[in-house]
Amino acid sequence: MRVFHGILLSLVGCRTPSLPDYQPADTRFSGPALADTVAVGITTGAASVDGFQIVANVDGALVVLDPRSSTPRTLRAVGPQVWGATSLADGSTLIATDSGLLLDDTYLQPSPVQALLPSPALQVARRGGAIWIRAAEGLSVWRGGALTSLDWDGEALTAPFALGAVESGVDVVWTANARGLVAVGETSEGWAPVATLDGVTGSSIAVDGAGLMLATTPDGLLVRREGAWSAWSLPSSNLRVLANPLRVGAWVAGDDALWWTNGDYFVEMSALPEDARLPDDARTVDAVGRLLLASDGGLTIVAERPTVAVVGLRNLASIDGETTVSAQTTPADGVGSVTMEVDGAALDVTDGAATLDPFVFLDDDTHRLEAVATWQDGVQAVGLLDFTVASVGTATWVDNVEPLFQARCAKCHAGSTQTRLDSAEAWETNVDRILDDVTQRRMPLGGPALTGGEISVIRAWQEGGFP
Ligand code: HEC
Repeated sequence: MRVFHGILLSLVGCRTPSLPDYQPADTRFSGPALADTVAVGITTGAASVDGFQIVANVDGALVVLDPRSSTPRTLRAVGPQVWGATSLADGSTLIATDSGLLLDDTYLQPSPVQALLPSPALQVARRGGAIWIRAAEGLSVWRGGALTSLDWDGEALTAPFALGAVESGVDVVWTANARGLVAVGETSEGWAPVATLDGVTGSSIAVDGAGLMLATTPDGLLVRREGAWSAWSLPSSNLRVLANPLRVGAWVAGDDALWWTNGDYFVEMSALPEDARLPDDARTVDAVGRLLLASDGGLTIVAERPTVAVVGLRNLASIDGETTVSAQTTPADGVGSVTMEVDGAALDVTDGAATLDPFVFLDDDTHRLEAVATWQDGVQAVGLLDFTVASVGTATWVDNVEPLFQARCAKCHAGSTQTRLDSAEAWETNVDRILDDVTQRRMPLGGPALTGGEISVIRAWQEGGFP
């Protein structure tokens, strides 16, 4: 157990800023929310994880909703309530529920970390190798096989936390207790407060992708940007803030209104489906910034502006086989076209989906997939996803090289006129000349040249010993 000692506190506590006055929020803008309901059944709680999967309680069962499939994957038929979820480095998912932390690996099992906690985890989030966990008793961090519970001045940090902002050069986690708001970061002294605001309690805290920190207080909303505080009052009660650290902007939900804000102004959303509601204690904003609301009809996805998400792959994930990605638009209706390209080269898009072939992107670079959706009224949205390619194993004659030969060379090299290349043996004997000819674009005679991916197939086959 590590506690924050008084010494550290006096270092940071001496510069506590005074609380700014609350200003009426600038709500010049308002308009109908762009909302689509994914009809799955009565949804009571939901959490978004990387790759746009959503862990939810639907019709009493614990399920995973994947935007690429219309049928939820049932994890447990009698499902606990979902408070939060996070993806782990190995691709499994840690789910905080009212019956404890569960691990969705190849099958669903209780997480061993729960046994170290005094009560069910209410919130989980991973950053790098650290998993942050909040239970009723306070905030802990799990790293390297050890759980450390954190406190501030001997008092547990019980408020919801938010990952994401940088303060004094370190990544921090914002949270609060009865004393005030605190940003905890890893310093040379271990985990310690690196920024604080005494005298306010934050009942809900969020940090967006631009480092904007929002905390709700009994009087309204506090916003911190680049070390400076501002305060807003909004005409609704029981405010909650939600954001995704990958996305600029945050949602502010009250009992009778919903706003999107970038910290400068507030866009009020109107005309939400009547039964759409924010599950208590939920932090459900997906990686393109859409708010996920529970409803009796399913899950309502609310976007502040037309949005396209590339789903099917986590951002920065690595592919090791053919991988299908698809573009999911909000609103779903009225889309005229969806195009996708990788590093500027167009992909074949059918029904909004495209296949990534690892052989095409064999080098060590990070590749950028860009999806552009154009609605019939001319509005456009762009979705981005970065990925790398893991070792793809080896290409084989039957699966990879022979089809390439048939498609690009056979019309001239299968008979007796030109050099015969219609067998694995002939390719093996001539592989250096073949590689030279195709990279120099002498072959296929009359073009078009082989793509980098097609050339990589030949190289991978050679490197693998011609299987
Ligand atoms: C439109 C016809 C045509 C196509 C398609 C074509 N070639 Fe050729 N290729 C030729 C001709 C003509 C020659 C010259 C005669 C020869 O050496 O066989 C040749 C020669 C070659 C040679 C021997 C030349 C050298 O480097 O010494 C190789 C190897 C070769 N082609 C590989 C390929 C490969 C691999 C493909 C497919 C990716 C391909 N060619 C597609 C017409 C073609």
